[in-house]
Amino acid sequence: MTVKPSVLQELPTDLVREQLPRHVAVIMDGNGRWAKRRGMPRIMGHRRGVDVLKDLLRCCRDWGIEALTAYAFSTENWGRPSEEVEFLMTLFERVLRQELREMMEEDVRIRFVGNLNALPRSLQSEIERSVTATQNNQGICFTIATNYGGRQEILQACREIASKVQQGVIQPDQIDEALFERHLYTAGSCDPDLLIRTSGEMRLSNFLLWQMAYSEIYVTETLWPDFDRKAFHQALCAYQQRDRRFGKL
Ligand code: IPE
Ligand code: IPE
Ligand code: MG
Repeated sequence: MTVKPSVLQELPTDLVREQLPRHVAVIMDGNGRWAKRRGMPRIMGHRRGVDVLKDLLRCCRDWGIEALTAYAFSTENWGRPSEEVEFLMTLFERVLRQELREMMEEDVRIRFVGNLNALPRSLQSEIERSVTATQNNQGICFTIATNYGGRQEILQACREIASKVQQGVIQPDQIDEALFERHLYTAGSCDPDLLIRTSGEMRLSNFLLWQMAYSEIYVTETLWPDFDRKAFHQALCAYQQRDRRFGKL
């Protein structure tokens, strides 16, 4: 199954290039419901979801967006039936293997955030391979959140910082936002300007809790497997209407 990127290759004329988000984050939700509505097993929704993500990545690159972060698997998703979890792990591994060459050709820099140590070994190797191979690429930064939990990320940063304090490497009063951010999985990357969640759910589900303090949130009823360039265009139009005040007037 492929998704046709035939329409909207160029930045639509109603979007202002200078006012595009630099970093877009997506909670790719609704795969299971999409499949169910078609009388198919949930995994078919996940399969289709991969194609949609690929096209969104390309679209971001075509339209000049610098970074895309996608929520692929949360720390809570381990609670799903083991067949679904296993299917997802195998899917991630296969997609990484199959797409690496194209990612290189398209100059994409791949990053992963999450507790990667708990993933199957073979997936960990594939992750390492793709991250290392693409680390010097200069194009869009594509981050995949896998076994990611915002609370866990904050806790592990606290642990690292606490142990540095214990060793006397830093003093408690040196702990500021900049230092804290350097201990997060996302160290060195800018915060998302825009969060898109598909399938109508209005919650963060433990995604980038620290980083989204000031992100604009856009929720669409569209299910992830149906989220095409047109739907993304709509999200960006909505974003460009927002007045980002950051607490000021
Ligand atoms: C999102 O779709 C994909 C993952 C969480 C891996 P869901 O699988 O959550 O689909 P729904 O929400 O049950 O429809
Ligand atoms: C969030 O979707 C996680 C991912 C998209 C990977 P969920 O479907 O797991 O979220 P909840 O359970 O509806 O909050
Ligand atoms: Mg869901």
